[in-house]
Amino acid sequence: MSYPDIRPRRLRRSAAMRRLVEETRISPAELVLPVFIKEGLAEPRPISSMPGVVQHSRESLRKAAHEAVRAGVGGIMLFGVPKNENKDETGSGGIDPDGILNVAIRDVVAEVGDSTVVMGDLCLDEFTSHGHCGVLTADGTVDNDATLDLYARMGVAQAEAGAHVVGPSGMMDGQVGVIRRALDKAGHQDTAVLAYAVKYAGAFYGPFREAVESTLQGDRRTYQQSPGNIREALREVDLDVAEGADMVMVKPALPYLDVVAAVRDRVDVPVAAYQVSGEYAMVEAAAANGWIDRQGVMLETLTSIKRAGAQIVLTYWATEAAQLLRDRY
Ligand code: PBG
Repeated sequence: MSYPDIRPRRLRRSAAMRRLVEETRISPAELVLPVFIKEGLAEPRPISSMPGVVQHSRESLRKAAHEAVRAGVGGIMLFGVPKNENKDETGSGGIDPDGILNVAIRDVVAEVGDSTVVMGDLCLDEFTSHGHCGVLTADGTVDNDATLDLYARMGVAQAEAGAHVVGPSGMMDGQVGVIRRALDKAGHQDTAVLAYAVKYAGAFYGPFREAVESTLQGDRRTYQQSPGNIREALREVDLDVAEGADMVMVKPALPYLDVVAAVRDRVDVPVAAYQVSGEYAMVEAAAANGWIDRQGVMLETLTSIKRAGAQIVLTYWATEAAQLLRDRY
């Protein structure tokens, strides 16, 4: 019988030792909370497929923003849900300074100031009557270049409302460059662009569609990417960085950790990953059945996303995870 000379278990023998050698630690400042604001709501309304997540009223959103800041969350990403009658073919509610998203950006900035980073989702799908991320041509396809013009105006509207970061998520070709130039021209040189550079047209966005009351018929496969493609993802990242993206994002997160790692290796700008609604819903559903340890899985997924190379993680658990992490370290 021979015994091992080298014993990795030595470094695991106590909590103190494990803490000393822990390679990846996630901190509240790296988490971004996505929030939904619904026009005309008096009380927050639960989203059934995302237990614990609500469509906010203006008042409840201010409170949630305050709570996130107290927990040390690094940023808040806002999504607007207009009333049905305020949706139209071109998504004009996204550009209107009195549109619900721009109103909410102003509210949140007034509430939190510079104590966290306020971000606006820059996309038309919540505001269009057909639910696509851009405007349509007569034959019903998404018109890239006509959409760019609207994105530019939407970016300026969000910057004017006080957003520190705009997050173009529509995957139109050239969107980052057009938005960057429009922001600069309007005097918003300091507003950063977080590009959803790599966004897969998968099935993980189901609960989000409920959250934003999406009217989409069909799918987004002419603008978002096929799940099997990674070289295409790197090409998208290169283009976005060349067009002036300050940060790039991969979405969804957990099923695409190889993509997160490859993007991390490729560029030097901060890399974010979005743990999307379907990822959240799967864990919540399993935990509600008693099949998994909810908080354990929550923190394990966030740690894994960071270990893969994301320096920023968008997660619906941001506030809760930040509170847990603050108690832990
Ligand atoms: C598009 C957008 C989507 C999400 C974020 N931005 C939906 C889509 O692409 O269909 C999904 C986020 C999530 O599922 O949590 N504006």
